[in-house]
Amino acid sequence: MCGIIGYVGKRKALPILLQGLKRLEYRGYDSAGVALLERGGICVVRRAGKIALLEEELSGKTFEAFCGIGHTRWATHGIPADHNAHPHTDCRKTLALVHNGIIENYRALREKLLSEGHRFFSETDSEVIAHLLEGSGPPLKRILHVLPLLEGSYALCILFADEPGVLYGVRRFSPLILGVGEGEHFLASDVPAFLEHTRHAVFLEDGEIVRVSHDGWEVFSEEGERQEKTVTVVPWDPVSAERGGFKHFMLKEIHEEPRVFEDTIAGRVNLARGEVTFEELEDFSGEYNRVVVVACGTACHAGMLGKMYLEDFVRIPVDVEYASEFRYRDPLVGEKTLVVAISQSGETADTLRAVELARKKGAQVLAVCNVLGSSLTRLAHWTVYTRAGLEIGVASTKAFLAQMTVLLLFALFWGRKRGTVSPETLASVLFEIPTIPRKLHALLAKENDVHALAKEFYLFKDFLYLGRGLYYPLALEGALKLKEISYIHAEGLAAGEMKHGPIALIEPDVASFVLVGQGERRLKVLGNIEEIKARRGKVIALCDEGDVEVLEKADYTLEIPKTLEPCSPLLAIVPLQLFAYYVALEKGCDVDQPRNLAKSVTVE
Ligand code: G6P
Repeated sequence: MCGIIGYVGKRKALPILLQGLKRLEYRGYDSAGVALLERGGICVVRRAGKIALLEEELSGKTFEAFCGIGHTRWATHGIPADHNAHPHTDCRKTLALVHNGIIENYRALREKLLSEGHRFFSETDSEVIAHLLEGSGPPLKRILHVLPLLEGSYALCILFADEPGVLYGVRRFSPLILGVGEGEHFLASDVPAFLEHTRHAVFLEDGEIVRVSHDGWEVFSEEGERQEKTVTVVPWDPVSAERGGFKHFMLKEIHEEPRVFEDTIAGRVNLARGEVTFEELEDFSGEYNRVVVVACGTACHAGMLGKMYLEDFVRIPVDVEYASEFRYRDPLVGEKTLVVAISQSGETADTLRAVELARKKGAQVLAVCNVLGSSLTRLAHWTVYTRAGLEIGVASTKAFLAQMTVLLLFALFWGRKRGTVSPETLASVLFEIPTIPRKLHALLAKENDVHALAKEFYLFKDFLYLGRGLYYPLALEGALKLKEISYIHAEGLAAGEMKHGPIALIEPDVASFVLVGQGERRLKVLGNIEEIKARRGKVIALCDEGDVEVLEKADYTLEIPKTLEPCSPLLAIVPLQLFAYYVALEKGCDVDQPRNLAKSVTVE
């Protein structure tokens, strides 16, 4: 993972680099560092731990440089320690670089370099690149010479002491974006790193190299040929990168959910005409005989729900696969398969590789993605944007709501096209949709109840999350949220499976979060509550408002406003996310930057 940044312009580079790194800290926070081109040569400062520690290290020192690079790390090769922190330099400190990605053949390269007399200062794979680049001659020529030697993924930012005021960026399978300002330029793993300074961005493609100075930029292919690129204006508002009075980004982002829902459906739901439309899908024929969803983490849980929507409304078989599994098999996809790739960031390496494989096999790819211009959107035939806005909290919340919303609408859209959804069925869902924001607000207004519940449960060591039907993927997501940010062991289960094993775990200090749901499954889930209670397990039940039977049976209940069944996950997710948040808060965990995680996993 890791976040990288570069700045060249007329302002002092250090504060801009540090501010940018803070925006990228969601990508990793094991160590951080900067390299600046000072009068006396390249100066590197790096430190294990979060960026605040690097700032401490830098305080009291003055730096004049107008050009520099920075890095925030998520360790892959080499423990999080000062000497493994980036930037890395060659032996003679003629250049410094930061790297996001993995150099898979670094061992062989390192051995060779050692035999040639190079001395290494870290255990990282990245350092080999600095040594390979050492030498004389124009930096661009050296870069073009070294790239073919590297196997794996990389986004690099490099500064050379003998070409002051110039930065180089290189991209292969890891994101790198050029920010175009007035008299200044930025290179970064993600747009928020420079959003306060410019909204003009150039999205680099794999295999491209960019050379930037304060007054210009040029992009080259790996063969050294000049490339034409377009500048995109990024719609995000810099204010969305602030916590806006909330204690954590995660809480702020949960509170944004009513607005996110409205943004996601805007222009797509037409009540008067009884239609769902996607302007992005004008040429989508829908002539497939199978769907395969590929995704990771939370996005995969949205995909599992998407399977249910698509099978119900489109009557088409759907498989859901973790992208990391799909890509290492010889999956049965071909021209008649639609691959739906879901990703908040659009940069998750496993998802990207799965999509490449699917395309090679002739499948068509629809991306459900949140980040404009991200790698996934450039690989897909169609992209439906989730419009959740910038998501910074490492635990995904509002993006999940937007993914579920898009998948519900997409299933209805395709179902109408295929004739498997009647106008009446569509109308019933469409009439419910405008009520959702109000119901989401009502759930958020009961936040204190969830907090009170979290106070009762934060010392528990084990949680089971149980759900059936549409609530099964939610059970998985509820459990994932809890373990991600509070480090409590939590397992999501299809409630019907409990009796086939997990019931053995039930005892008084195991908590079960039971998602009750509607329809014929409701009674079955009530049976599950009885089974847990009979074994003296503690039950928190999430149910529809006024479900007296559940109120009587469960130890604690959280209610959601009544809604149509297909819309119920859109509401039920809020108490699950809030519960995880408040448990983590009570435990004193770092909610926005949970240990060992990163928001965007750009390594496989
Ligand atoms: C990481 C994050 C998860 C996220 C997953 C997929 O593991 O920690 O929160 O769900 O990546 O990310 P994507 O950007 O592809 O949705």
